[in-house]
Amino acid sequence: NTPQHVKIIDVGPRDGLQNEKQPVPASIKVELVHRLQDAGLKEIEVTSFVSPKWVPQMGDNAEVMAGVQRRAGVRYSVLTPNMKGYEAAVLSQPDEIVVFGAASEAFSQKNINCSIEESIERFRPVAAAAKAAGIAVRGAISCAVGCPYEGEIAPERVALVAKLMHDIGVEHVGVADTIGVGTPLKVQRALEATLQHYAVDQVSGHFHDTYGMALANTLASLEMGIWHFDTSVAGLGGCPYAKGATGNVATEDVVYMLHGMGIETGIDLDKLIDAGKFISDFLGRKPHSRAANALLTQ
Ligand code: HMG
Ligand code: MG
Repeated sequence: NTPQHVKIIDVGPRDGLQNEKQPVPASIKVELVHRLQDAGLKEIEVTSFVSPKWVPQMGDNAEVMAGVQRRAGVRYSVLTPNMKGYEAAVLSQPDEIVVFGAASEAFSQKNINCSIEESIERFRPVAAAAKAAGIAVRGAISCAVGCPYEGEIAPERVALVAKLMHDIGVEHVGVADTIGVGTPLKVQRALEATLQHYAVDQVSGHFHDTYGMALANTLASLEMGIWHFDTSVAGLGGCPYAKGATGNVATEDVVYMLHGMGIETGIDLDKLIDAGKFISDFLGRKPHSRAANALLTQ
């Protein structure tokens, strides 16, 4: 049941850039979004509406959203942890909002300063308001296989958060390996736990590549019929509350693998590599993508 078509959500502008220490001007972020849509990305996670004291890099959220020249058929999503974030986000007219919870209590506290249960109570009105406004609602389940503070996370805990998210009306969830410690069978257990509450079309994989396992985990997910993946152009990123964790799997590497398997993505790999090169040049380093670096030196 390997899917014939995969939908890639590029989270580079958000997950990728949120952890960058050097300031990245809004104009560069906007240009990155434009290059991603030119490359054929149909869903882009643009920014987050979180406290600028916690994540200064995302403080230009409204400016970035306003600067993007939107293209029909592309979905622009933003993260919102609470009603304050939602109320600010909605002014930018996102197509989708993302609430982000965790399967680990300690990570929930470090990342969003509240317990898992409390986070769900904060997400509940956000999901309801978004629905009423016709905005899609996605959820992220962080630390679905491992946590930097608690170690290994049991699939039952992932199932519980998936159930809580489902109960409050979250329509789609991403199973996130925040620190990239997952290996294929563990990732499959976390996905199975989520599939107790969501259909296969409503679940995506969000794999950080700290240990180089993200492509293997992507393949393991594909084998289960999962066909939505969050990836980051040039492998940008990491979460500020998950020390040492590197970026998401590079979009270029996932696209290279999928196209090689005859699975369509609608993405032009050459243009995608150019987008990754653009942001990597700005940041003063090489793209964290094996495929991009191989193709760039040919
Ligand atoms: P808090 O301190 O508990 O919130 O933070 P509070 O309600 O007590 O408010 C404290 C201050 O923050 C107040 O301002 C609020 O107005 C302000 P003050 O009166 O002190 O000037 N505030 C806000 N400002 C802007 N936007 C908001 C907002 N909410 C409150 N939405 C909060 C709670 C969630 C806000 C905080 O902990 C926070 O911003 N955390 C940042 C979390 C974050 O962005 N993490 C990275 C993204 S998640 C991720 O990367 C994982 C993911 O990729 C999946 C994976 O890989 O695992 C999704
Ligand atoms: Mg992430």
